[in-house]
Amino acid sequence: MKITGKTKIVGIFGYPIEHTFSPLMHNAAFSALGLDYCYIPFEVQSEDLKSAVEGIRALNIRGVNITVPHKEAVIKYLDELSKEAKLIGAVNTIENKGGKLIGHNTDGRGFIKSLWDDAKTRVNGKSVLLLGAGGASKGVAVSCALEGASEIIIANRTVKRADELVGYLKRNFKKTKFSAIPLDGHELAKGIACADILINATSIGLKGKGLLPISQKDLHRDLVIYDLIYNPQITPLLKIAGRAGVKRAVNGLGMLIYQGALAFQIWTGKNPPVDVMKKAVL
Ligand code: ATR
Repeated sequence: MKITGKTKIVGIFGYPIEHTFSPLMHNAAFSALGLDYCYIPFEVQSEDLKSAVEGIRALNIRGVNITVPHKEAVIKYLDELSKEAKLIGAVNTIENKGGKLIGHNTDGRGFIKSLWDDAKTRVNGKSVLLLGAGGASKGVAVSCALEGASEIIIANRTVKRADELVGYLKRNFKKTKFSAIPLDGHELAKGIACADILINATSIGLKGKGLLPISQKDLHRDLVIYDLIYNPQITPLLKIAGRAGVKRAVNGLGMLIYQGALAFQIWTGKNPPVDVMKKAVL
């Protein structure tokens, strides 16, 4: 990579930031397309977020990704929000359009694209069982509703949190049926039996730790399973899915790549080289 006076800067704000794959993924993509851009990680603590966002304008940074813990807090410093970012209530990509800062959320659409690309599955008309009711789950739920899911059941350890998310979704989407259940017992098993798509958006299984209250006998072969976790690549849920003979079961690597690919497109206006980005992450 050659940095000159003309190089356009993009990057990522987060804390901690050392673990991010995004610089590798984006810089490989810029290089593959011969674009004079450079992607830099910025370690930004919560108390500095406001000045860091002002810095985007001051330094004419072309755009940034936003990661933990700033995805919601950053909204108040932006000029405009995309429809998805507004509905999800979180931003993972900022576009600097001539000094106007526009907040986007490419996580949800990244999930939908990966579900198609990696599991050849569309959400339209399907029944979705979503595990978890945190930020990741909200992004996926909104995207599935936007894509026309017929039903979304949210299962969470803290049922109150699932109830609150369902209430929010009901107020915003009239065509999808929503309900909340506990993340265990008969209701969960029944939910799985009736679902077309099972999505894990909890942190259970991250770094191989923890086990979802789901066993091999609960799964059916035609269920499509999407685990947002990608570390390890064969997550504990995917192991169970393999034993149950589930035909389509994938991890969240594709979502990570597509959320990046969509951000790349927003910043550069070019078609992202998805294969290059995937190779860089792997
Ligand atoms: P994120 O932004 O990644 O979604 P989060 O908002 O902290 O992170 O949400 C984490 C999700 O994983 C929640 O649904 C959480 O359940 P609770 O709402 O009951 O806390 C779920 N989760 C994390 N650890 C869990 C565990 N050991 N058992 C069950 N659910 C767990």
